[in-house]
This record gives sequence, C-alpha cells and structure tokens, in this order.
Amino acid sequence: MSTAAVLNLGNVALSRKEDFRAYAEAPRRTQPEGLTRVQLGALSAEARGEYDMLRRGWHANIGPIRTPQLAELHEGLWDIADSNLQDGDKAKGAVAVDAFPGLGKTTSVLAFAREFHRREVAEKGQYTDQGNERWPVCRVGLTGNTGMKDLNRSILEFFGHPGRNRGTTTQLGQWALDCVLSCEVKLLALDDLHFLKWNEKNGIEVSNHLKWIANEFPVTLLLIGVGLADKGLFSEGDARRDAALAQTGRRTTRLGMRPFTIESEEGRREWRAMLLALEQRVVLADKHSGMLADELSDYLFARSTGHIGSLMTLINRGCQRAVRTGAERLSRDLLDRVRNDEASEAARLELEAALEKRRLTSRPRSRRHGAA
Ligand SMILES: Nc1ncnc2c1ncn2[C@@H]1O[C@H](COP(=O)(O)OP(=O)(O)O)[C@@H](O)[C@H]1O
Ligand SMILES: [Mg+2]
Repeated sequence: MSTAAVLNLGNVALSRKEDFRAYAEAPRRTQPEGLTRVQLGALSAEARGEYDMLRRGWHANIGPIRTPQLAELHEGLWDIADSNLQDGDKAKGAVAVDAFPGLGKTTSVLAFAREFHRREVAEKGQYTDQGNERWPVCRVGLTGNTGMKDLNRSILEFFGHPGRNRGTTTQLGQWALDCVLSCEVKLLALDDLHFLKWNEKNGIEVSNHLKWIANEFPVTLLLIGVGLADKGLFSEGDARRDAALAQTGRRTTRLGMRPFTIESEEGRREWRAMLLALEQRVVLADKHSGMLADELSDYLFARSTGHIGSLMTLINRGCQRAVRTGAERLSRDLLDRVRNDEASEAARLELEAALEKRRLTSRPRSRRHGAA
C-alpha cells in the first residue's frame, strides 16, 4: 500500500467531491508491525525515525472501530437509504442523527458514506447513463452561523460549481438541485446542522428550506447535529404556525448515538470489548494483554465518562507520549500527565470518587477479581 496516498488525507477537509472520493477510495491504513524492545533497539537511527513516524500517524488515526453504537447507526442508515432507492418521485424518508458532541456522529456517518459511495460506484459505474460523473454521496459540513444561502453555496462548493459565488439563495438552491440530479446523488449528508441560524424569526424559513430539499431532492437526506430535537425538527408542533416543520418531522427518522455506560452488565461488556479492540491497535513495545481492559478500565472510564471522543483523545495522546518518552506502554502514571478536554476533566472527579468507593465498577462480573 502506498503510504503517500494515505498520509495526504491529512490535508483533506472533505468539503469537495474530490476530497471525499480520495477519502472514500483510499485503502485503510495498515497497522505498523509491533516490535519488541530488543527489535526496537536494533533499528538504525533512520529506521527508528521512520518507524516512530508511522506509529504517530497510526495512533492519531485509530479507527473507526466497529463499536455497537456505530454498528447500530449503520444498520439504521442502510435500512433507510436502501428503502429510499425506490423509483420516481415518491417522497424519501429523511434521517436525523442527533446526539451530543464527541459521541462519534461525524466519524460513523463518514464511515457509512464511504461504504455507500463504494457500493454504488461498484454497482453502477463511475459515470451516469447521461455521461456525468456519478457522485452517490454529497457531504457538507456547516460552520458557525450558516444561513440558507451559505447552505446552498456549500453544496455547490462540494461540486465545484462555477456559480457558487453569485446568485440569489433561490438560484443557488436550483443549481444545487441540478448538481444532485445530474450526478445522481443518493445521499445528502448535512453535518453540524446546529450551526444553521435557527432562531424564532427564521425558524420557519429554515424548516421550509429543509422541507424543500427533502421534497425536491431525490435523496436520502441525512441531518446530523446537536440538539436538533430541541430546535423543533421533529415536533409536530403547532400546526398553524409550524406546518412546514411538522411535515419535516413526520418523515424524519431520528437515530441517536449513546455514550458507553457501566450501570448494566451489558454496558460493562461493551466497554471491555472497546478497550480490547483498542489494545490490539496500540503499537507499543511493552504493551501487554489486559493493559487497558483490566488495569485501566475504571481509570479510562472515569476520564472519558464513556464518551468515545474523549477516550480516543486520551489514548492517542497517551500513545504519542509513550513513543516519545520511551515508556512504550500506557499506565495510569503516564496518562495522568495527559490533558483531556474540559468537559471530561470536570466529570472525572465525581466519577473517580464513586469508582474508588466501589459504588461503581466498569468491569464485567467475570473480570473483577483479575488484575488490580
Ligand atoms: N467508532 C470509532 N472508532 C474510533 N474512534 C472514534 C469512533 N467514533 C468516534 N471516534 C473518535 O472520537 C472523536 C469524536 O468523534 P466525532 O465523530 O467527531 O463525534 P461527533 O461528530 O459526534 O462530535 C473523533 O476524533 C474520532 O477519532
Ligand atoms: Mg461532528
């Protein structure tokens, strides 16, 4: 596999179709071989530099891991996307992935979009019957305070449409529809939708616009964001005031993403499976089985509060430090020096106290009397 092809993805923002294709069609990274201390010591300075560089890139990009959360979301998305492949102008169902930040929405949706792109292109070919490039997925990430016009523009931006910097909101919208039709887009994913300006005054404008997209674009509309339910996306609402919104709600299926929890035995088993999967992916000379899943289970749960984003940040930063300092393993001591995001740090103290008093444990029953 060419490492260059993979490493180039570092500069890719995925806001243009070519970037998305590069992401979707690039081979998965290969895990660097695990070396022992002795093998590490035998490397020349140059070979060691290269090995550590590979490990930096690897640890910074572990995943996506097929967590139960990701698997459930994908099942739901396949059900809806495939049932929407009906002919003609039947209204298509929309999906909203609505959950707190850092639970893996973007990661899981991108992994799905990647599979969907690959399947559609493999089955139907790179070009449409009309001879246009086939783009099964259009994926747009919104940024702060986006209005309707910016939303339309970002779709045109994805396609590199020359008219994207002029035109009215309506024109831009029409052109966006043209792109979607001619490239036979089947999945339109709008990520970070909470950035849409969505206040009392223009709430109706927003919902009308989303409804227009849902009705006119022959796609599975995938809305991703934080607190979409609170913004009234699903509510039947006050029919007089909010008829447009109510209609969006009726055809939109809401899929959530949950954090890991340790209240139930099943939850604790899922947490352990996650740590075992991570253990296999860590490339450190002194790692051993049980390093995360037995020895650091409670600790990692307290520091991440079960949020995959925080867990991955901690593991990534910990591995970078373990390589850099020569520790070559993850321990409480090392991880204590690694900073995590503020939200997790704040929740950590309370959880740690509960875990220490043994009011809580993150380990499944069969695993409690193993390692310390
Ligand atoms: N299934 C997964 N496997 C590995 N890492 C993941 C997975 N899901 C999320 N992450 C990590 O967690 C972080 C937050 O995920 P992200 O998808 O950005 O969450 P959200 O979009 O919900 O805010 C990302 O940096 C990603 O690396
Ligand atoms: Mg996101």
